[in-house]
Amino acid sequence: MAKEEQSRSSREQRWSLQGMTALVTGGTKGIGYAIVEELAGFGATVYTCSRNQAELSERLKEWEDKGFKVKGSACDLSSRQQREELIKTVSAAFDGKLNILVNNAAMSLLKRASDHSGEDYRRIMETNLESPYHICQLAYPLLKASRLGNIVFISSVAGRIALPAISAYAASKAAINQLTKNLACEWAKDNIRTNTVAPFGVRTNILKPEDIDPSIVEMYMPLMARTPIARIAEPEEVSSLVAFLCLPAASYITGQFPGQSRRYPVVEYDNTYLTVNDNLVKELAYMKEVFPECDIARLVYRHLTPNGNISWVSCFQHLLHDYVTARNNNFGPNIIPTL
Ligand SMILES: NC(=O)c1ccc[n+]([C@@H]2O[C@H](COP(=O)([O-])OP(=O)(O)OC[C@H]3O[C@@H](n4cnc5c(N)ncnc54)[C@H](OP(=O)(O)O)[C@@H]3O)[C@@H](O)[C@H]2O)c1
Repeated sequence: MAKEEQSRSSREQRWSLQGMTALVTGGTKGIGYAIVEELAGFGATVYTCSRNQAELSERLKEWEDKGFKVKGSACDLSSRQQREELIKTVSAAFDGKLNILVNNAAMSLLKRASDHSGEDYRRIMETNLESPYHICQLAYPLLKASRLGNIVFISSVAGRIALPAISAYAASKAAINQLTKNLACEWAKDNIRTNTVAPFGVRTNILKPEDIDPSIVEMYMPLMARTPIARIAEPEEVSSLVAFLCLPAASYITGQFPGQSRRYPVVEYDNTYLTVNDNLVKELAYMKEVFPECDIARLVYRHLTPNGNISWVSCFQHLLHDYVTARNNNFGPNIIPTL
């Protein structure tokens, strides 16, 4: 085979899921639905589950009509026994081998910490943490047997920064972030990679209208405006990243949280320092144009630390926020992604 042809065929293999098997939990709606389609579109045979059998059957028919290879069964992931049955069925369907496990299904609750009941806390931890942890344990022999295993968790920016009125959900997602690192280290020897995708707001129906307190939702509006792209994401914008992490092309990526770190610089209050780099210097020069009345150089250099970082002081933060809003309004979306 000519060298050029060889490299094309190797590229095609690196960017394909042909012949691979995948389990995506909660694939009938929202982000899970998009992930099923994305993985199937790359050639994987996918198994999915949800609690609503009628809806699941409808989805399976839709996917069959689209030419995707998708199977599924009803399962309430909050039940330990049903999780065990699910993995037995998946094992039988895929001959004891699984390449991809996407732990997507979860529940959310927007409530102030003082209003969470014991039952709220229990349901969240059971669905969002205990269930994916147990599914990983059950799927481990299957992932190992495939010799090319991949776990992707769907976490949330809430697991990294303190968003309003979402404490129990946030704690469950923070635990998932840590689990990602532990499993990545424990199971790399078995050729299993483990990563997490952590979006901010995505257009789905995870929150039921009757559970939404408008005064809490209002608190999210300015936060959303302060993200670099300053809009809610579509499920397909999350599923593409999940698919990438599952591809052989991502074979050296494990224990990571793409889509999380540094993507929300303006709302990362725990980020004490900004490193001075070329991008920051360019942005500061631009800020000077947008806010000519402000002596940005003085403001920044006043807070320069001896090691060349800038103190993350609130005046700078507020200025940056105004600047982001101004640039979003005047110059389109997706600004300062690299700060
Ligand atoms: N939407 C966002 O803004 C956002 C932001 C960051 C992270 N996330 C994360 O993204 C993931 C997907 O969320 P989404 O917004 O796509 O949610 P969604 O639209 O509510 O879909 C959730 C899916 O999971 C299934 N599911 C829920 N609980 C289940 C259970 N106990 N057993 C089996 N299946 C269950 C649902 O089907 P049934 O209800 O029929 O069982 C559905 O198919 C979650 O991990 C969520 O935390 C979402």
